[in-house]
Amino acid sequence: MDLKEKIKLLGQEVEEFKIKSAEDLESFRIKYLGSKGNLKLLYSDLKSVPNELKRDFGQLINKLKNSTESKFNDFKASVETKQIDDAKNKIDLSRPAEEHQLGARHPLAVVKNEIIDIFKRIGFTVSEGPEIEDDWHNFSALNFPPEHPARDMQDTFFIETGENEMALRTHTSSVQVRVMENEKPPIRTISPGRVYRNEAISARAHCFFHQVEGLYIDTDVSFADLKQTLLYFAQEMFGEKTKIRLRPSYFPFTEPSAEVDISCTICNAKGCNVCKYTGWLEILGCGMVDPNVLEAVNIDSKQYSGFAFGMGIERIAQLKYRVNDLRLYSENDIRFLKQFKSAY
Ligand code: DAH
Repeated sequence: MDLKEKIKLLGQEVEEFKIKSAEDLESFRIKYLGSKGNLKLLYSDLKSVPNELKRDFGQLINKLKNSTESKFNDFKASVETKQIDDAKNKIDLSRPAEEHQLGARHPLAVVKNEIIDIFKRIGFTVSEGPEIEDDWHNFSALNFPPEHPARDMQDTFFIETGENEMALRTHTSSVQVRVMENEKPPIRTISPGRVYRNEAISARAHCFFHQVEGLYIDTDVSFADLKQTLLYFAQEMFGEKTKIRLRPSYFPFTEPSAEVDISCTICNAKGCNVCKYTGWLEILGCGMVDPNVLEAVNIDSKQYSGFAFGMGIERIAQLKYRVNDLRLYSENDIRFLKQFKSAY
């Protein structure tokens, strides 16, 4: 067979060679491109070609070599992507599972639930009200005089609504009013929720925070009932050795009013920088519901009396967990949040 014929036949053979797997590809390489492959043999045949024809034959063989190499490279690429795909589709059942990140309840939710639990045990229900409130429920019905500074733009976020001016509630005392409007005494309820104040955000103040309001209305409710209820709460929340002290104070909706301190749980009332060396920590405001408030919601203040109290959930959480920066509660840094694993 002359050389020209040989080149042509080999060309056809290369073209018809079917490559379906990595093994086929390797046999193809050995057969045609390997050091003892058919193309190499063609080059040795070239030696016996007369000099004046060497150039033409050389070109033919080179052409065949190029097309063989490009067929090889194309198939090599497709075999490689197939191998990657196969690896991706293969499920390794022995591989250890990825760890699931378990969430934890937010510390404020933990404290809120604990407060609810403590009051439920002595018969308090839970009631809620809207965060967008009208003047009546947030201020007027609570005996705030029209010129009271708490209505000032500085403290309250007002909302433009056209006809009735609305505001973001500044305290959960608004829920007291709603409950008394809708229910007849005896009333024994707590109202947890978010409140808003127009304040610059810092470690000690925030434009929103959380409160729990308490309300008890019945015949013959006395200041002694209030004090005993708060002592029970303080000891359940902070431990049975906790003491409370009441200081006279002023709120428009209670008369008399008081602020309540607990004995410092951090230094056992010996004096430390948290209690500012007084041995006492302020935790809430309270008092006997002002007769004006009862009358505003059509409850006969001669027949009924009651007490109310309001506490900040952040404040209780701060004392329980010794968190000193309010901003941590709303930054959602999971390094902070995941420290609070709790039964509540
Ligand atoms: N609403 C008060 C505040 O936001 C807290 C408070 C004080 C609530 C005395 C009461 C209360 O029910 O009797 O500061």
